[in-house]
Amino acid sequence: MRAVDCIHKKRNGGELSSAEIAFLIKGYSSGDIPDYQMSAWAMAVFYQGMTEDETATLTMAMAESGDMVNLSPIRGVKVDKHSTGGVGDKTTLIIGPLVASAGVPVAKMSGRGLGHTGGTIDKLESIPGFRTELDRETFIAQVNDLGLAVIGQSGDLAPADKKLYALRDVTATVESIPLIASSVMSKKIAAGADAIVLDVKTGSGAFMKTRADAEKLAAAMVAIGTQVGRDTAAVISDMDQPLGFAIGNALEVAEALETLRGQGPEDLTELCLALGSHMVVLGGAASSIEEGKRLLRERLNNGEALAKFKAFIEAQGGDGSVVDHPERLPAAPARIQVLAPIGGYVAAIDAEQLGLAAMMLGAGRATKDAAIDYAVGLVIVKKVGDEVTEGEPIATLHIREENGGTASVVDRVKAAYSIQSEQPSVKPLLLAVVTK
Ligand code: URA
Repeated sequence: MRAVDCIHKKRNGGELSSAEIAFLIKGYSSGDIPDYQMSAWAMAVFYQGMTEDETATLTMAMAESGDMVNLSPIRGVKVDKHSTGGVGDKTTLIIGPLVASAGVPVAKMSGRGLGHTGGTIDKLESIPGFRTELDRETFIAQVNDLGLAVIGQSGDLAPADKKLYALRDVTATVESIPLIASSVMSKKIAAGADAIVLDVKTGSGAFMKTRADAEKLAAAMVAIGTQVGRDTAAVISDMDQPLGFAIGNALEVAEALETLRGQGPEDLTELCLALGSHMVVLGGAASSIEEGKRLLRERLNNGEALAKFKAFIEAQGGDGSVVDHPERLPAAPARIQVLAPIGGYVAAIDAEQLGLAAMMLGAGRATKDAAIDYAVGLVIVKKVGDEVTEGEPIATLHIREENGGTASVVDRVKAAYSIQSEQPSVKPLLLAVVTK
């Protein structure tokens, strides 16, 4: 078999066999197939697409290129959740304890933030003492005892995807639905998921700018899951503004606590209930989405979800008293308000720009190894649809006085807000659900 023949076949719109896809991924992983041939193949896929069979085969070839986490010692169906990336997205902090309190085990590996997006691991590490490195036995025992553990990514998961994704990044081949779908699903499968719930975002702050593309990506991922025996459901949600109000690590933990208390922002609560209800259905704790939502709402209202979060923090070495005393979370010494430059109605908020503003304050990383400040960030005051008068606060920055460059952050936050004179129609948060 030769790489050039596989490229040729794909370039001309042909379907590659499982053996050909396995050959490409193995050869690329070992270094036998060079970057220039893999780039040509990725570009051919970009233009010609892939069939469902090809996409599923590629997914498994990449999943099996490294460690495959074995979660079978954990009782029950292990349902993982994945978000295609969001600003102010603290859903894992809420869904983890919420779903675990309903009896579905959550054994999760999460990542750190980079650029304008935050990472669950950084958010958890803003809780004093919280440890995100557990050995395998401790991780498994904790999920069996408590129903919930979250750790940082360890091991060598889907290294072929890592190599191919980096190559796509510099060859203008990231925006291919089958390549994105197989990339995401390969990592979830390698991490040991039995079933997967996907939060596919669309809008200005999202990877998929249009709803049509988000639906195509969701359908491609659900099709992969179906083909490889992992029940998969996708919820498509709007990202034309950040989720909730807080952006920044400890600020987001505080907002997650409010949400677990049943007093969180409406959009965040709605998304958590939507994703969580699919998780409890796939995990066998509810027989319909409506029943799942009822079950989860009950856990928010009766304090069980919050109690689970506290037990989880303590099990991983953290200070559980932050649950009742959120003022014990790291707090920035200074605040400044960003004022509306004109009056009118908020028509849109560029979530990516606000994510970058939070990063500039120190809440995120510009480069992979940069240090972050857990205390800083920003809290939105006005959301889409809200009326605002000139000079009224639209957001509050939580800053360190010594942190220079605040003026440029204020300008960026102002520029992220589109304010218009007519009242805009507010799009619903939840746009569609894709299941098999
Ligand atoms: N996220 C991924 O993990 N892979 C892609 O290809 C795109 C986004």
